[in-house]
Amino acid sequence: MKTLVIGTGGREHALALALSRDPGVTEVHAAPGNPGIAAVAALHEVDPLDGAAVAALATELGVDLVVVGPEAPLVAGVADAVRAAGIDCFGPSAAAAQLEGSKAFAKEVMAAAEVPTALAHVCRTREEIEAALDAFGAPYVVKDDALAAGKGVVVTDDRQVALDHALSCDQVVIEEFLDGPEVSLFAITDGQTVLPLQPAQDFKRALDGDEGPNTGGMGAYTPLPWAPDDLVADVTRRVLVPTVEEMARCGTPFSGLLYAGLALTSRGVRVVEFNARFGDPETQALLALLRTPLSALLRGAANGTLAEVGLPQWADGSAVTVVMASAGYPATSSSGDLITGVDQADALEGVDVIHAGTARDADGNLVTAGGRVLAVTAVGDDLAVARDRAYAAVAAIAIEGGQHRTDIALTASRGEV
Ligand code: AMP
Ligand code: GLY
Repeated sequence: MKTLVIGTGGREHALALALSRDPGVTEVHAAPGNPGIAAVAALHEVDPLDGAAVAALATELGVDLVVVGPEAPLVAGVADAVRAAGIDCFGPSAAAAQLEGSKAFAKEVMAAAEVPTALAHVCRTREEIEAALDAFGAPYVVKDDALAAGKGVVVTDDRQVALDHALSCDQVVIEEFLDGPEVSLFAITDGQTVLPLQPAQDFKRALDGDEGPNTGGMGAYTPLPWAPDDLVADVTRRVLVPTVEEMARCGTPFSGLLYAGLALTSRGVRVVEFNARFGDPETQALLALLRTPLSALLRGAANGTLAEVGLPQWADGSAVTVVMASAGYPATSSSGDLITGVDQADALEGVDVIHAGTARDADGNLVTAGGRVLAVTAVGDDLAVARDRAYAAVAAIAIEGGQHRTDIALTASRGEV
């Protein structure tokens, strides 16, 4: 099978790397890609938001499957354009990607499917906003209704900060605060069959101890030794399957990756958010342990034959991903800063250094090109070993002005979650 991965980030590098190691895959292409992806795929130039251009590239390359990584091309209809050209595509239609593209739409789907989630008000005016803030009280949870690269959510005890953020959005969702640990549970689906992956945890805040602002994700690990045994079955039955069924029922069948961001609250599981694509950086950790050929899952989802693939199989052990970010992230990011030590780190046992925001400068040096720069991923027999390996690799890498969290998977590896 010939594949084409669309995107430039760490998730796309992890996908391309897994496909390059997949015996069922003969060619891996990527567009636009990054220097890490260039080591495992042939890179091509394309505007990832331009469906016609992506479809033309896929046709020209003669690929059997296009894998759309990020949400923005999905919301822009790139998967629709590829399918219209007669090529299988992993990723939902523009209409179905509204599950991620509009938090208000996601809330409607959850209400119709009776999926447990935070109570919420969709607000447009100052009056509605103030009424909703006061109805829920602190801590305030304020979400931009539109896509905001994981940075549209403000959780704060400060009513003024909450109000200012809400007023800066066109349409805003204000909702009940959910306590309890967060879990990312992904399912691959062709619109009928729903195959859950194993649970992972993401670290959303910028700083150690879950301090600082929300980011796209500063690290991840999988599996979760502390998760209840019935978590996957419970979420599949109460969240994933009803959501996929409701999407089909309301005329926007969903295929691709359904990402359920969950809070395990004292009152049970609640959906924090849906995404319509693989999570980043959870995917880097998950794919490091996936034993089922990735191409079989992606193609089964794309062409409606997922039932023949069967439940994904996993290696024993754990995987940990630590994100190394550039100076200023998440408020800003810094490009052109020198990165050294990647090859040495990548050669360490059990380690893959996944590139997220990297580029080559005019002299061929590896430099930063975005907020999240690298997603250093390691596997090991248990969480502590995987974590030690990931941090040994991080220690071998230097990014001018760079930053990373030092506590990814720490409490879980000590059995303290
Ligand atoms: P989202 O973009 O919806 O995933 O939100 C980003 C992050 O904000 C989540 O991962 C949570 O850490 C936090 N968050 C979102 N919604 C809530 C909520 N209702 N209660 C508590 N924290 C939340
Ligand atoms: N890891 C969070 C996300 O992909 O949205």
